[in-house]
Amino acid sequence: MCIVRTQHDVSEFYRKALAEGTQTAERLCAPVSDRFAGFLHGISADAPRTALELGYGMGTYSLALARSGFTVVAVDQVPARIFRSRLSANPDWLKHIDVVEQRVESCSVIGNFGLVIAKDVLHYLRQDQVRELLTRCIQRAPAAAGHFLEVFTDITRTDRRGHGVMIDGEAAYTAAGFRDLIERLYSGWAIHTTLSPHAERDTETARNYFEANRITVCAYRHTGTGALR
Ligand SMILES: C[S@@+](CC[C@H](N)C(=O)[O-])C[C@H]1O[C@@H](n2cnc3c(N)ncnc32)[C@H](O)[C@@H]1O
Repeated sequence: MCIVRTQHDVSEFYRKALAEGTQTAERLCAPVSDRFAGFLHGISADAPRTALELGYGMGTYSLALARSGFTVVAVDQVPARIFRSRLSANPDWLKHIDVVEQRVESCSVIGNFGLVIAKDVLHYLRQDQVRELLTRCIQRAPAAAGHFLEVFTDITRTDRRGHGVMIDGEAAYTAAGFRDLIERLYSGWAIHTTLSPHAERDTETARNYFEANRITVCAYRHTGTGALR
């Protein structure tokens, strides 16, 4: 038996967790990862200091980017007032982070960003939506831009009764399928992908309720490569 959760269920889950500041098993409040810090370190000084974060959650990565001198557009489906009210503690952040309440698949703000980050969000979209969204970001990427993506593939979810759980309309990538997409879309870029097994455990049932492979993509657009693809 497989339970199907809707995109609305996903949206409500994050709206509640982020509004209440609940610490979820996904560690939404965790500091930025070493992988991201390494990626940021590799961004060329020639890249425009403008960033787009797709699916910002707590906004930790947007804040880190603002602190590193980027002007950020942060997009998520959750009510923008949640993050804005955190940002209001420091009016300077509000000047550097534009919070946009929108589904990323219909994101209207894709411009010439020097940096794009989409961490732990694209797996919720359909495969055609991921392809279309990344294509738009790549087509508009200025020279020296960098993209950081983290996507769950080969996902197995189980509820407390041991039933499989799927999300309606999710990408359901295999690691090979996602890597293949990245190689095709980012042709001509310097790309580095890594795979790390990931599991989240329910301490009450002592069972993993989420298992997946996390694919991390660090992609850098070479400078001086001529026309945009
Ligand atoms: C697992 S959290 C990741 C948050 C953050 N990127 C991080 O890694 O800490 C997923 C986030 O993506 C957002 N999200 C999921 N599907 C989305 C969609 N279709 N459009 C916009 N936001 C979405 C959720 O609201 C949530 O904030």
